[in-house]
Amino acid sequence: MTSPVDPTRTRAWAELLELGDGFSPDLRAWFDEDPDRAARLSLDLADLRVDLSKNLVTDEILAALVRLAEETGVAERYAAMIAGEHINTTEDRAVLHTALRRPAGAPLSVDGQDIDADVQEVLTRLDAFADRVRSGKWTGVTGKRVTHVVNIGIGGSDLGPVMVFEALAPYADAGIEARFISNIDPTDLAQKTAGLDPETTLFIVASKTFTTLETLTNARLAREWLWEGLGIGSDEAARANAVSKHFIALSTALDKVAEFGIDTNNAFGFWDWVGGRYSVDSAIGASLAITLGPERFRDFLAGFHAVDEHVRTTPLEKNVPVLMGVLNIWYTNFLGAQSHAVLPYAQLLHRFPAYLQQLTMESNGKSVRWDGSPVTTDTGEVFWGEPGTNGQHAFYQLIHQGTRLIPADFIAFANPAYPLEDGGRDVHGLFLANFLAQTKALAFGKTADEVEAEGTTGALVAARTFDGNRPTTSIFAPDLTPRVLGELIALYEHITFTQGVIWGLNSFDQWGVELGKQLALEIAPAIEGDESAIAAQDPSTRALLAYYREHRRG
Ligand code: F6P
Repeated sequence: MTSPVDPTRTRAWAELLELGDGFSPDLRAWFDEDPDRAARLSLDLADLRVDLSKNLVTDEILAALVRLAEETGVAERYAAMIAGEHINTTEDRAVLHTALRRPAGAPLSVDGQDIDADVQEVLTRLDAFADRVRSGKWTGVTGKRVTHVVNIGIGGSDLGPVMVFEALAPYADAGIEARFISNIDPTDLAQKTAGLDPETTLFIVASKTFTTLETLTNARLAREWLWEGLGIGSDEAARANAVSKHFIALSTALDKVAEFGIDTNNAFGFWDWVGGRYSVDSAIGASLAITLGPERFRDFLAGFHAVDEHVRTTPLEKNVPVLMGVLNIWYTNFLGAQSHAVLPYAQLLHRFPAYLQQLTMESNGKSVRWDGSPVTTDTGEVFWGEPGTNGQHAFYQLIHQGTRLIPADFIAFANPAYPLEDGGRDVHGLFLANFLAQTKALAFGKTADEVEAEGTTGALVAARTFDGNRPTTSIFAPDLTPRVLGELIALYEHITFTQGVIWGLNSFDQWGVELGKQLALEIAPAIEGDESAIAAQDPSTRALLAYYREHRRG
């Protein structure tokens, strides 16, 4: 195993420390003095225009950040990843989500597996299945065509599909709606099955491991709901027949799929080298292939691939995900930022921040490096956000005038999904004016002189002054298409990767979620009243259990 380079011992880190010492950014002056700044720092990444110019960096700082990426071996680690080396050290696995979106026929053999053949085989089966459901050739047990697919999954087996389905809703043209059940809170299943007709509902059980408590519990409940709704009693053959027409599975564990009672002919596999949070472009995207159609699903994959190719072939100083990754390092490790806002000016992307939370925080929320040694610096920002303009009327105040540094990514599209006019004015134009206004206000602020020139006096002047120098990156694209969405997701995957390599992390495991899972299983008997399980708890947990038992009716 190659040891990670300690970033704090690189020459670039020392330079950055010096550059950060007494650093006093001045975007107004930088733009005034350098008329080319916007052009120079606006880069094209496939269909995306990425404007980095409103970030708090000089050319000197950016060059040092790029050298940090060089010295920590970002390019070499990327090459190792796409070649199938076991860079997921704690699970001894390859990390090959990039192989899910390569064009057919590009040979890749890893650990004795013909990756290309296997990926294409699943995609071809998925295409055919999606076509059958969309055309009505696939029917439920009573012969009716499918009107609703319900994806049951959690984490990476939910967040990607639901985010993409919402984002690309205008492309769902087969009259098939998707719903998503993730939470073991019974409310989720109760609400998402409300109004559904069991005869026209197809459940998709999505679980990489097929052991996840939430997903298997919900899948069993959905199966009961189906049997009851179809009026099937205890007849085993009728039950199995109903499941075979109303349940499919997406998993790496086909043996467990069969144990659950789903015919493996109705299962679509993927492999242990696809991490959950990197799996929306695998069979986990089945709900998307069905609702959007196989062709659009392939366009979505092509978008990812275009960005993968950019990362593979572009020098670090022009490599957009690498540059965005090193900017995040600058803010986190040198300027003290603790969070990062993602603000889509696209209502359709309302689940994108939640999706990025798993991608970034499950990947880089770590305190040990890939060789088990402690990290040498802060890692993993808190990612959060909401679509503009809603956020403007909620939390933007803190970004504009608060005491914390919050780098923000703004994402916008030149064309609306739903063009509407208000009194002859294009509403989308008005929407985009807000995107431009916010990034401008954050960068350049408003001085006390400017406030006074508007007639404000006294204490109000300070309250109405904006310091500016609040960093933003603007990501602009013509339209929110399947391809562009694939590009956006891949962009953030590789930003996350870049930061992970610099910090020396294995961005592909998630041991931090295990303890809670284990304890929930231990506490479940205590909830049910098992005295020895109650006695085994700590005093606070025992008191909460007592409160529960006192207040729980029935
Ligand atoms: O608990 C975390 C996690 O392992 C995620 O990484 C994963 O996406 C999610 O659970 C769901 O796992 P599975 O797809 O195996 O049900």
